[in-house]
Amino acid sequence: MNPSVVISGANGFVGRNVGMFLSKSGFQTIGLVRKGKTVNFGDIITTENLSEKNLASKIKGASAFLHFIGQGRQTVDSDYDTVNVSLARNAVALCKKAKIKKIIYISGLGVDKNTTLGYFISKYKAEQEIIHSGLDYTIFRASYIIGNDDPLSEDLEQQIKKGQMVIPGSGNYRFQPIFVYDVADVVIQSVTGKKFSNKIIDLVGPQIVSYNDFVKKFLHGKKIKIKKMDFETVYHDALHNKGPFGVDDLSIMAGDYIGDHKKLASLSKMRFTRYDEVLQSRILS
Ligand SMILES: NC(=O)c1ccc[n+]([C@@H]2O[C@H](COP(=O)([O-])OP(=O)(O)OC[C@H]3O[C@@H](n4cnc5c(N)ncnc54)[C@H](OP(=O)(O)O)[C@@H]3O)[C@@H](O)[C@H]2O)c1
Repeated sequence: MNPSVVISGANGFVGRNVGMFLSKSGFQTIGLVRKGKTVNFGDIITTENLSEKNLASKIKGASAFLHFIGQGRQTVDSDYDTVNVSLARNAVALCKKAKIKKIIYISGLGVDKNTTLGYFISKYKAEQEIIHSGLDYTIFRASYIIGNDDPLSEDLEQQIKKGQMVIPGSGNYRFQPIFVYDVADVVIQSVTGKKFSNKIIDLVGPQIVSYNDFVKKFLHGKKIKIKKMDFETVYHDALHNKGPFGVDDLSIMAGDYIGDHKKLASLSKMRFTRYDEVLQSRILS
């Protein structure tokens, strides 16, 4: 029988792409979504916070739990502690109740115990819940994950529609985009083998690119006004919940976080897709 995986946050960008990929690769998938949300692969179970009494019996004995619930912008009604930390704790409890031995979690590149950023603190605490769970875990610290419908690209498309692309500050800060189907391949290896067991791995693509260069490639020759705005102004807008960037998006951009792609490549033995190939296929699709 094919292995079965449970995916929380199954309707989010990573959940729906990895879920579809796994489903097409022969895995049985059970997507966990909130009421009113759905996915177009595998089975679906509705849950508000992963703690309903009868939930464990419905997913009992699955091979792995992919915990993809998370948020990168907090509000008064939905803060990081409630979503990123508490739901990771609930995910661990659910795995134990359902006798699922493996958990995979996507944390953020730049997370460590010395961080002072609220988002990273919540991710660090979620990591700790998972590391101390006694479950076989794999924690991926991801840079931007890109694909056809990723939040960064959707956001850039919105700016293109408005006829102006904003670059906060110098635009020289860098990141390491990774293709979502490469993420799916790595997840499959983590579910089916032991190479990634009980490890924290940077989930970063093969190229380091500045925001300026990424935007230039993304535009693909389109004549759109590029407006360089000083960081203070963009940050002011973000604090007042205006403009395309959240305060923590800006902190992560300014953080210029670069990870260890070589380690990921040597563990997985995969050839990773270049970000310009992903952007090219986006244009063709
Ligand atoms: N995408 C990236 O580049 C990237 C980079 C680093 C780390 N990550 C991490 O990877 C994970 C998946 O990211 P993503 O890009 O797929 O995010 P996403 O598209 O925003 O999806 C987030 C998922 O979490 C669910 N969720 C959020 N708040 C919830 C709550 N209070 N209760 C239950 N479910 C809730 C959402 O469900 P609803 O639709 O019901 O809100 C959605 O299914 C997150 O942990 C994220 O921090 C992503």
